[in-house]
Amino acid sequence: MKTRICGTGSALPKREVTNDDLSRIMDTSDEWIKSRTGIGSRHLAVEETLVSLAANAAKGALEEANVLPKDLDMILAATLSADNVLPTLSCELQRELGASNAVAFDINAACSGFLFALQTADVYIRSGQYKKILVVGGEILSKLMDWNDRSTCVLFGDGAGAAVVMPDEASGILSSVQGSDGARGGVLSCPGRKNNNPYVTNDAGLSFVSMDGQEVYKFAVRTVPKAIMEAVEKAGLAMEEIDLFILHQANIRIIESVAKRLKVPMEKFPTNLERCGNISAGSVPVLLDDANRKGMLKRGDRVVLAGFGAGLTWGASVLTW
Ligand code: UT7
Repeated sequence: MKTRICGTGSALPKREVTNDDLSRIMDTSDEWIKSRTGIGSRHLAVEETLVSLAANAAKGALEEANVLPKDLDMILAATLSADNVLPTLSCELQRELGASNAVAFDINAACSGFLFALQTADVYIRSGQYKKILVVGGEILSKLMDWNDRSTCVLFGDGAGAAVVMPDEASGILSSVQGSDGARGGVLSCPGRKNNNPYVTNDAGLSFVSMDGQEVYKFAVRTVPKAIMEAVEKAGLAMEEIDLFILHQANIRIIESVAKRLKVPMEKFPTNLERCGNISAGSVPVLLDDANRKGMLKRGDRVVLAGFGAGLTWGASVLTW
């Protein structure tokens, strides 16, 4: 028994902000951002909530999979930027969709979140416990950015992607690898709320994402190819047999470096960072939906999904479409 992705969906906020738009409000340029990252624009949530984006993405995935919300057994939402601390995004999504029979919880593994949630769904499906699972990855990261820190805020965008997974005899997830290295987590962080009770003095203001970009870059180009090689080998396949590589969209130079190390042509690495930036947990499912809607995925194709980011965390899965 395998876990097959039977439908995908995605949603981006209406407001698209180009590099030139940003250069009018901060000391940056289209040339700097594009040449270092490949990012041309990103979507930022002005009126949208994360649950509204996640619900739109979910509706697309449910429709393609031909599954009604009330038939879902489980909703897993991967995010680090839920609208509220409580209730969780997954429970709000359950309410929004009317998926009254699902059990729902969130997973936070930052930019690896969708991979970790998908791999969790895979374990539930293969155990036989659940049959119809909605896996969502989404972020409104713009609220966690320091808009005075040009080295970080220009990189990220908002959006959500979703997939419905079900058991299948023939196609589905063949292998997965995951990893974490909390000892190096300080290179990409965002502090949470400080202790706040009558016995502490708490004068903390708002905290934002901060990143040592070069350290994250080095981590990504070393770890991601290794994780993909391991997952492909575990699936019993050769690298040339993989048709498409859907990677976390952080930086085009990272993707080029991974392609080079794997000796795979860039044509097998679709991207959407040019117009979406880095959507953290939303990045892989939004790109997967793009590829699916463009007809780039045919039944039987072999696909690698890979994510990496804060934690540090990383994950890769190999599947047949
Ligand atoms: O999901 C995982 C997320 N994170 C990543 O994947 C990040 C991986 N890292 C990267 O993508 C790159 O390290 C960055 C794109 C973040 C930065 O590129 P870099 O080539 O490592 O640049 P840098 O940090 O060394 O900065 C070079 C210069 C600095 O100026 P000086 O000190 O050389 O005068 C920065 O102040 O570029 C300056 N700079 C900018 N200039 C214009 C930093 N940000 C900007 C900006 N516009 N937005």
